[in-house]
Amino acid sequence: MRALSGIKPTGTLHIGNYFGAAKQFEMFQQKNYEGFYFIADYHTLNAYPEPAKLTENTWNIVLDYLAFGLDPHKSVLFLQSQVPEVVELAFILGNYTPMGLLQRAHSYKDKTAKNELINVGLFYYPLLMSADILLYKSNIVPVGKDQKQHVEIARDIAEKFNMHYQKDVFVIPEPYIPEDVAIVPGTDGQKMSKSYGNTIEMFADDSVLKKQIMGIVTDSTPLEEPKDPDTNNVYNIYKLFVDKARSAEMAAKFRAGGYGYGHAKKELLEAVHAFFDPMRKRRTELAQNMDHVEKVLREGSEKARSVAIETVKEVKKTVGLAGNIY
Ligand code: ADP
Ligand code: TRP
Repeated sequence: MRALSGIKPTGTLHIGNYFGAAKQFEMFQQKNYEGFYFIADYHTLNAYPEPAKLTENTWNIVLDYLAFGLDPHKSVLFLQSQVPEVVELAFILGNYTPMGLLQRAHSYKDKTAKNELINVGLFYYPLLMSADILLYKSNIVPVGKDQKQHVEIARDIAEKFNMHYQKDVFVIPEPYIPEDVAIVPGTDGQKMSKSYGNTIEMFADDSVLKKQIMGIVTDSTPLEEPKDPDTNNVYNIYKLFVDKARSAEMAAKFRAGGYGYGHAKKELLEAVHAFFDPMRKRRTELAQNMDHVEKVLREGSEKARSVAIETVKEVKKTVGLAGNIY
C-alpha cells in the first residue's frame, strides 16, 4: 500500500499542518506503508513567491519532514519540481478533465467570488495535484479536510481515464482525514492557516511561540467563574498535545472556576514545548549538515522519478502516443 502527500513551501509549518497532515505521514511510515512525501513547489508559483524565499521555504520543509521523524530509508522524500513527469501527466490528464470539475473547486470559486485576478496556474491547481497523486499510484492521501475536494477530483479524473480505456491504469486514491484533527483551530478560533495569520508555528523561537500562545483569543469571563472548556480555543488546542487524562484535568479546572485563561495558556506553552522540543533539537542538528539533507532530497527525487517514468510510459502507451523516449 502506498501513502502520498505534499506540503507547499509557502512559509513555516504550523500545528495545523502537523496534526492535520504530517503526523499521519509518520503514522503510515510506522505501519510500513510505502510513503511518498514531497514539497509541492510547483504549486506555489500561481502566487508569485519571491524566488529566494521559495528556495528557503523549500529547504525548511525538508528539514521539517526529517525532524518529524520521516526516515529516508523508509519513505521517499522528494521535490515535486525534480520530477518533471508530473507536468507531463497533468497535461495528458487535462484532456480527461471537464472544465466544470475545475470550476467547482473551492480555491477557484473563492477567488472568483472575491473578484480576484486568477491565473491559469490557480485554475489548473487541482489537475496538477491529481497528477501528483496518480503518478505514484497512491492508495491513500493523508491531508486536512480543506484538501478533501482535491482528492475527490483526482478520483474522478482517474475513474474517467480508466473507464475510457477500459483499463486500470490508475489506482483510485482515498483521502485519509481523521475527524478529530480534520480542522485544527487557529489562535482566533477559525481554521488555522498561514494565510489567516492565526498560527502557532511548530518550530518558532521561544519568544515567538510564547507570543502566539498568549495571543490566543478568549472571552472575558472573569477568572473565578466556571468556563465551558469545549468552546474555548486554549483547551481545544491543548487537547492536541496531551493524553485524555490530562485534557480531562484541564476541562475539570475550567468547569470548577477559579482557573483563568492565563493559567491554561501557560500549561499549553509547556505542553507544546514538551511535544516539539525533541523534534526541534533534531531539526537544529540536521540544519548543521545541509549536505546530508541535500543528498536525501536528491536521492528521494531520483527514486520518485523512476516510479513516475514508469507510470507516464504506461499512460502514453495506453493513449496511443507512439515511440518511447525513455
Ligand atoms: P495553510 O492553510 O496554512 O496554507 P497548507 O495548505 O500548506 O496550509 O496545508 C498543508 C497540509 O496541512 C494540508 O494537508 C492541509 O490540509 C493541512 N492543514 C493545513 N491547515 C490545517 C488545519 N488548520 N487543520 C487541519 N489540517 C490542516
Ligand atoms: N494542495 C495541497 C495543500 O495546499 C498540497 C498538495 C499538492 C498535495 N499536491 C498534493 C497534498 C498531493 C496531497 C497530495 O496543502
